[in-house]
This record gives sequence, C-alpha cells and structure tokens, in this order.
Amino acid sequence: MKKVIIGVTGGIAAYKVPELARLFVRSGIDVQVVMTPAAAEFITPLTFQTLTGNPVFVEMYGDRTGERVRHVELLENADLMVIAPATANTLGKMALGLADNLLATLYLAADCPVVVIPSMNVNMFKHPAVVSNIELLQKRGCHVMDPDQGELACGVYGSGRMPEPYDIFNFARRAVMIKDYQGIEVLVTAGPTREPLDPVRYISNPSTGLMGFSLARALSDRGALVTLVSGPTHLTAPAGVRLVKVNTAAEMREAVLSDYSKCRIIYKAAAVSDFRPAENWDEKVKKEKASMTLQLASNPDILLELGKNKGNKILVGFAAETEDALQNAHDKLVNKNLDLIIVNNLKEPGSGFAVNTNRVSIIDRDGKVEEIPLMEKEELAHLILDRTAVLLKK
Ligand code: C5P
Repeated sequence: MKKVIIGVTGGIAAYKVPELARLFVRSGIDVQVVMTPAAAEFITPLTFQTLTGNPVFVEMYGDRTGERVRHVELLENADLMVIAPATANTLGKMALGLADNLLATLYLAADCPVVVIPSMNVNMFKHPAVVSNIELLQKRGCHVMDPDQGELACGVYGSGRMPEPYDIFNFARRAVMIKDYQGIEVLVTAGPTREPLDPVRYISNPSTGLMGFSLARALSDRGALVTLVSGPTHLTAPAGVRLVKVNTAAEMREAVLSDYSKCRIIYKAAAVSDFRPAENWDEKVKKEKASMTLQLASNPDILLELGKNKGNKILVGFAAETEDALQNAHDKLVNKNLDLIIVNNLKEPGSGFAVNTNRVSIIDRDGKVEEIPLMEKEELAHLILDRTAVLLKK
C-alpha cells in the first residue's frame, strides 16, 4: 500500500486519529487527511498536516476563492480510504449518496476499498436508522469495524467507542489485504532444532515455532512466495506456504542454503541449537552410563554464513537474550551483517518461548532502536513486515 486517505468526521474520538495517521506514516505510506468541518472543531487540521507532511483539506472551496478543490486528484493512486471516526451523520450521508462536503464527495468518487469506523453514543449506534445504514454500506462493500465496548464520552457505558488506533490499523490492513509482498520470494525459519544424543534423546529448546509461522502466514497473506524451513513443531503450515521440515541445525543449514539464492528476504526466527552432542550413539544409551561426560560440539551458525554472502538480500535475525539484550543483539547484527534484528529479553514476562505474545525491540543497521509494546506474535509479524517493506522500497 502506498497511499491512504483518512477521512475524519466530527466525533470526540477524532482525538485518537492522529495516532492512526502516524501508524500509516511509519509504515512508509503516504497519508492524505480530509476532514469534515465538524471534525475541525475537535482537532485542528494543522495536527494532521504536521504528522503527515501533506496539506489537509476540509472545505470544498479553497479559501473562498471559488476554486473547487479537485477532489478526484486527491483520490489519485489511493489504495485505501479509512473513515474514522464515522459519525451517524456521515454514515447517513454515505448510505444516501449525499455529497454536501468534501469528505462525503470523495467517498462517492472513491474506487478503492473503504474502511469505516463507526463511533458514537450507544443509543445512536443502536438506532434502526444507523443500523440499517451500516448494513447497507456493508452490502455495498464497505469494511465496517465493530466499535468497542466501554465508557463513552457522554459518560454512559456501552458499545460505540472507537477502537484503539493500532487495532484500526490492523483491521484496515486485513480488510484490504495489502499485497505489498506480491511475488517476492521469502525464506522463513522457525521452531527449535533437535540435536540427537541417541535414538531417543536430544538437546533442544522450548521454541514452539509460533513467531516464524506467524511471519510465514502474514507474508503469504501479503502476497509473498514463502518457503518455511521449520524444526519440529505442532503447528500447521499456513495455506500456500511451502513447508520444509528439518530436525537438526545441519539439516536446517542444508535446506536454507539450497533456497537462499532465489530469496529476496530471509527471516531467521528459528531457535537453532548452538551445540550438539559431539558424539551420538546408534543405540539407546544405558542408564548405567549416567556419570559419563557429555562432550558438545558447536553447530554451524547459519545466519552468519548467509550474512557473508548477502548481496542485496534483506536479512532479519532474531535474538533471545537474558542480559544486556540491546548490546548483545546489536553486536549480532553487526557480526552477522543483518539489516534488522528483533530482540527479546527472555526474563521479561510475556516474552520469548512458548507464549503467544512478545515484547521486543527492533534494531536497524544504523543502531536505531525501536521499542515495541507487548503484542500477539501474529500482530508483531505484520509489524515486522511493515518495517522490512520500508527496506524493500529503498
Ligand atoms: O547468535 P544467536 O544464536 O543469538 O543469533 C540468533 C540468530 O541467529 C537467529 O536469527 C537464529 O535463527 C540465527 N542462528 C543461526 N544459526 C545458529 C544460531 C543462530 O542461523 N547456529
């Protein structure tokens, strides 16, 4: 997605929309804000102008000069229109096809997908007129997001609250299924590796593979051609993703190297075991041998090897740390010649192995650190793709 039109109407939730605009801007998307005159009573056009770097339009006729804003020009190359908050009044105009302000006019002229975020008092939201307008808009193809429950600006509790900007951002993205990775070959690794000691025992770690599988799903949804090289997990490969199952780090290395040359981006989310038993037994080791000393050998560092032969590929590594997380991760980014490294501190609650959420920091080649709040791995996968999409465009 390259360009989004954000239409702001006159509800109190308008105060949350700058944050929504910022999320698009940070994903490298050009944001054109259009406001209704009522919206400009709640929040100033200047706020949006500053955040988006684009002029904000409110009136149909510029500066009373009589010159009509060429609304069709604003829509040029727009991939998506998001109307947030959408008041009962604007929903009514959209349903009826009225065009008495710039935003309502643009809506009628738009041929891109339209996402609508209704937000209003609970009784207004339940009114049959509003209900039927929303149904009609849905029937015509608008993607309407359900409002949240909670305390409303008017003091009552109920449904009608505008969802948080990040949820709107994700809804909008899913609704239009942005194909910003269309046709791009991507390799993802996931899960743990298992390093056998004997036929029944191995060295491994608690990785479930969820981060890598979430990346593979998000990539596939966004149009990429995905090869997922995974150690043992209980997860099912997302539809359309080519799954290559491996056990050991050596097998993972072989699978990764055989696909490496054709890939543009590599996400190395696997928790590769750094060691393997130096020796492994063909028969089950007897328990009488419990006092034996187990010698370990180092496994090949696959990512280090990829980094030495990077070319114009985008390499994304993952680091799970228990101390000096940022420093260690940055050292890895430099040593392994990565474009981004996603680091989580294993000691933080809700982070790391075997949980659905993660709290990470993303470090880039300039050493810039972006702290990401705790979120579902599925959501984090899309955020990571947003960051690499910016690198892809460079
Ligand atoms: O050095 P460390 O293991 O912390 O680095 C983590 C990153 O390197 C991950 O992206 C992981 O998939 C990758 N890695 C690898 N081969 C190894 C060890 C780690 O590709 N043997």
